[in-house]
Amino acid sequence: DKGGYRHFMLKEIFEQPAVLSRTLQGRISKTRVMEQAFGADAEKIFDQVKGVQIVACGTSYHAGLVAKYWLESIAGLPCNVEVASEYRYRRVFVSKDTLFITISQSGETADTLAALREAKKSHYLASLVICNAPNSSLVRESDLVFMTQAGPEIGVASTKAFTTQLVALQLLTIALGRRHGLAEQTEADMVGSLASLPDQIETALGLDDTIKHVSEKFADKHHALFLGRGVEYPVAMEGALKLKEISYIHAESYPAGELKHGPLALVDANMPIVAVAPNNDLMEKLKSNLEEVQARGGKLFVFSDQADAFPSSEEVTVIDVQSVPDTIAPMVYTIPLQLLSYHVAIVKGTDVDQPRNLAKSVTVE
Ligand code: F6R
Repeated sequence: DKGGYRHFMLKEIFEQPAVLSRTLQGRISKTRVMEQAFGADAEKIFDQVKGVQIVACGTSYHAGLVAKYWLESIAGLPCNVEVASEYRYRRVFVSKDTLFITISQSGETADTLAALREAKKSHYLASLVICNAPNSSLVRESDLVFMTQAGPEIGVASTKAFTTQLVALQLLTIALGRRHGLAEQTEADMVGSLASLPDQIETALGLDDTIKHVSEKFADKHHALFLGRGVEYPVAMEGALKLKEISYIHAESYPAGELKHGPLALVDANMPIVAVAPNNDLMEKLKSNLEEVQARGGKLFVFSDQADAFPSSEEVTVIDVQSVPDTIAPMVYTIPLQLLSYHVAIVKGTDVDQPRNLAKSVTVE
């Protein structure tokens, strides 16, 4: 049932305030993360964690990449992230007391499951899955389980599963961070921001009409570049994946600082460049990267809460996102990128819920 929406994908994008709120429910108090959400044994295991290895595919892999920034900068723990199809076939070095984490909407992705089974033969401390499907293979075979509460996701392109995974990973970051010097006040601030997330996402969904307009400028394009820096780089990666899978426009993402090392050669007036540009420590750096793009005639689409920093012009379209705390910016900036890919696909007339060549759950290698 599409609940009155034209596609499951759109319904699922708009469900995000509700499912994020459900994912937080019972997992946070006013000021604290309740770590029992990760299972009865979580407390004991978390006490011993000295590092994290994350393995996943596709969109879930992008969630893992966001978590790496959080785990290292907020929890002070080393974190590696790898796609499951690579991880499972190589000899890996496992450091002592490392927690092995899989992230999966379906809980049945063949490569991710195989990676977990491989990991069990190595000397990991324990395994944790962040999953949306109860009773799935990954849930059954992991020591610790955190269930995202996204509800069934029917659209092949993952949307609400991704943002709920990010919430789960931030709760984990806090739970582990507490044991490594994360101040109580910082935890309380982060928890407060998470509690505001459903409302913030609702506000971001208000960009729908604006983005519908913007999407028309993409429909005749064959390529697009998505740029971000820091924790927004994996958000840009996810934006590019969404655009390619449902609109069939070739999209690539780059950390903006890498532009001059090659991809700048691609930039001309036919190359839309999407930038994820919240006002944070790296915005000035990003801004100068974007000036280089502009100097080559590139058409910029900047998602930012600092419209003044990127004045609109013929070449620059600024999409005004509300200002939010850094810790929830990845979730909030994901929303307009999901809407962008949706509306571009609509303009192009592609099959939004069932893109060619793709399956919802990849249970074969
Ligand atoms: C992209 C998408 C895929 C999945 C990937 C992993 O929109 O849906 O990239 O994210 O196949 O699937 P799960 O999370 O079920 O393991």
